Amino acid sequence: MEFLKRTAYCGSISKKDDKKAIVINGWVAKKREHGAITFLNIRDRYGVIQVIVDENSPQDLKNIANSLHFEYCVAIKGKVRLRAKELINKDMATGEVEILAEKIQILSTCDVLPFQINSDKTQANEDLRLKYRYLDLRSGSMQRHIAFRHEFVRAIREYLSAKAFYEIETPTLIRSTPEGARDFLVPSRLYPGKFYSLPQSPQLMKQLLMVSGFDKYFQIARCYRDEDARGDRQLEFTQLDIEMSFVDREDVLSLIEGLFKDVLKKVKNLDIKIPFVRLAYKDAMNKYGSDKPDLRYGLEIKDFSKYIKKCTFDKAKSIAEKGFVRCIAITKSELKEKKIDYSRKMIESYEEVAKTYKNSLFFYMKCENNALTSGASKYFVSIQDEIIKDFNLSDGDVLLVVADEKWKRVCTQAGGIRQRIASDLGLNDKNRFEFCWIIDFPLFSYNEEEGHWEAEHHMFSRPQDRFIDTLESNPGEVLGDLYDLVLNGYEVASGSVRIHDVELQKRIFKICNYSENQARAAFGFLLDAFKYGAPPHAGIAPGVDRMCMILEGEDSIKEVIAFPKNTFAISPMDECPAPVSQKQLNELSLIIKSE
Ligand code: AMO
Repeated sequence: MEFLKRTAYCGSISKKDDKKAIVINGWVAKKREHGAITFLNIRDRYGVIQVIVDENSPQDLKNIANSLHFEYCVAIKGKVRLRAKELINKDMATGEVEILAEKIQILSTCDVLPFQINSDKTQANEDLRLKYRYLDLRSGSMQRHIAFRHEFVRAIREYLSAKAFYEIETPTLIRSTPEGARDFLVPSRLYPGKFYSLPQSPQLMKQLLMVSGFDKYFQIARCYRDEDARGDRQLEFTQLDIEMSFVDREDVLSLIEGLFKDVLKKVKNLDIKIPFVRLAYKDAMNKYGSDKPDLRYGLEIKDFSKYIKKCTFDKAKSIAEKGFVRCIAITKSELKEKKIDYSRKMIESYEEVAKTYKNSLFFYMKCENNALTSGASKYFVSIQDEIIKDFNLSDGDVLLVVADEKWKRVCTQAGGIRQRIASDLGLNDKNRFEFCWIIDFPLFSYNEEEGHWEAEHHMFSRPQDRFIDTLESNPGEVLGDLYDLVLNGYEVASGSVRIHDVELQKRIFKICNYSENQARAAFGFLLDAFKYGAPPHAGIAPGVDRMCMILEGEDSIKEVIAFPKNTFAISPMDECPAPVSQKQLNELSLIIKSE
């Protein structure tokens, strides 16, 4: 089809184009009729410009202008002119100019829209947005997020390429190897009964690239995990996958700090402070009740056990004997200018957040006129002055206390409350970006259900040297050379120094209940590779979707992914997953078991 091809982008027309004859291509974003004048807003990827068909225009042009509706795709030829001073639109990037139309060509008409396309987020339910994602993507917010993501990835590629990293693709049809989540499997047509697997990450391939001598590798890698989708999770997502040889933990951490300092300056004009704060896993759990603490606010968790010993609260005393008691003080000094006016109902709602277990306890006290009041205060009368002084409480301040027999549980309960307080009080400033490293993770955790130890991260992470001799005798105490990067309460990257010698790798498999035969069957190629001069290596993988989500101030990664799946792992647009034909099943030698 022959059509008027654009000579300018809608969003880039300005005063300097005054009197120029131009052609634009785009979509009708708005149409208003004012007496004999038709005002059109035409949108393309670069912005919006006002087009005018006025009373002096020929009748056939007026007729076409009249026939236009929202989202018609058009080509418009016309002349740029300055707007009169009083008609300048300061809210529009092109608001000083407009185009007087001479010719309008309709390239495509548009059906009745399922929702209005806004300059910000589409106001429709999520499934409708995903069903018509191609339209949702025309909205201002999606256009900005997709552009941001492109710039983010581009800045990463530039930085790493300048540091001599190679971008290397690894296969997406691989052998299924246990890696934490459930694999997506692809049946082989040529080898009935055999399967490829989609990679959960390029973990093993990148380690093999180190054996091959490509000592600085990165990839913008698609990863696939068959797990429940949540706000910060998708079945398929993108990692910035990185691996380096002849390095230790410090090299990886400082590479990432330098990378994000540079990238965030380029894409958001942010000056972030490096090096990032570092917290040992145990300290993060104790202070913030999470291994992904949000450091945009304080509200530190403190130990409360010593006061329990002196109080008259029997239930708290009995838990404290074997367990842990922690508290959070919501004080004016903590919250700076924010005013607290806690009702009893509001405070008691934190008990639900704490999800108190059978043998755990939640209680609170308020400070009024230099005394502890309400909640459990009657048990603390004799030591109220000490508590008020130690926690710097003043009128209206609140003390929340949780007690539990188990350390991890008391931490996560207090951590849950901490997060909820922050969201109730609006402390989650979306324009602040607080990174921190979590280090010194335990290497193993005990799987109570299956009755054996398993890797906290994955089985290729190296124990810290001081634990090498006691791996088998005391797995629970072993700390790994592992690190997570956390941003505003989200885990955005995870990595480790890797094991590169066969014997140590075999010991780890054994502790994780992998027999020699099982390990050989699943990871034989890696064990073999390690026999041929494997270099010491380490790596990390930041999640691209998660980082873009946070940097764009969104709460769901779907907002920064062009075609995501919904919460039920379905794409409402193409209705995937979908049945396949009997012929395809036959080719793959598959029989579907009926329910
Ligand atoms: P891990 O499994 O911790 O480590 O993943 C690294 C980062 O990837 C992101 N991520 C996800 N993003 C969206 N949806 C998901 N379902 C999802 N799962 C993970 C997170 C996470 O921090 N191979 C190792 C890395 C390494 O050791 O180098 C790995 O994949 O941001």
